[in-house]
Amino acid sequence: MKNELKKLTKAMERELDSKRFEHTLGVEFTAAALAMRYGADVLSAQTAGLLHDCAKCLSDEKKISICEKNNITISDVERANPGLLHAKVGGFLAMSEYGIEDSSVINAIINHTTGRPGMDLLEKIIFTADYIEPGRRTAPHLGEIRYVAFTDLDQALLWILEDTLNYLSDGSQEIDPMTEQTYRYYSARITVDRELRKAAEAHHVQESRYDE
Ligand SMILES: [Fe+2]
Ligand SMILES: [Fe+2]
Repeated sequence: MKNELKKLTKAMERELDSKRFEHTLGVEFTAAALAMRYGADVLSAQTAGLLHDCAKCLSDEKKISICEKNNITISDVERANPGLLHAKVGGFLAMSEYGIEDSSVINAIINHTTGRPGMDLLEKIIFTADYIEPGRRTAPHLGEIRYVAFTDLDQALLWILEDTLNYLSDGSQEIDPMTEQTYRYYSARITVDRELRKAAEAHHVQESRYDE
């Protein structure tokens, strides 16, 4: 099993540019830590973390042609912004190129950018790890969300969705309608825990003071 991870790591080093490879290792590491915290399968989390962006460095033409050849539907938003397809194509390549048979790993890859209503634990872990991994520098509330991710995963999820929609609402990038659907689903089910957010903010303020 360890050998499998080694093989996949080598494959990702070949497939991805150096920045994306470093991000990938960060997501693998963070996914493993979250899996330990929440009792998910650690190896599945590492595998999904390693492969989640396996299609990220393919050209737009290649992503579209993989979809067309394999009957993977392309929405209008995706056709206009083929970058959005990297998650779907990644899930497909995880099966066809990298021999992954575990459907929960494949689903976690497919849904890592937009989430989806009713995500399972591994999907939530990969979605969150993608946002908070150590190499990520600029996302809003990053320190606070990192804290909350290890305290209450659903709260972290909701906060990430909220910030992602706020960030995309300036119109510079297309919003995948699934991100909005996922946000609506979780915001109807989870109420923001204001005490937890306050605690995260206090923790982050302390942390930044410590940095100085
Ligand atoms: Fe991605
Ligand atoms: Fe990613």
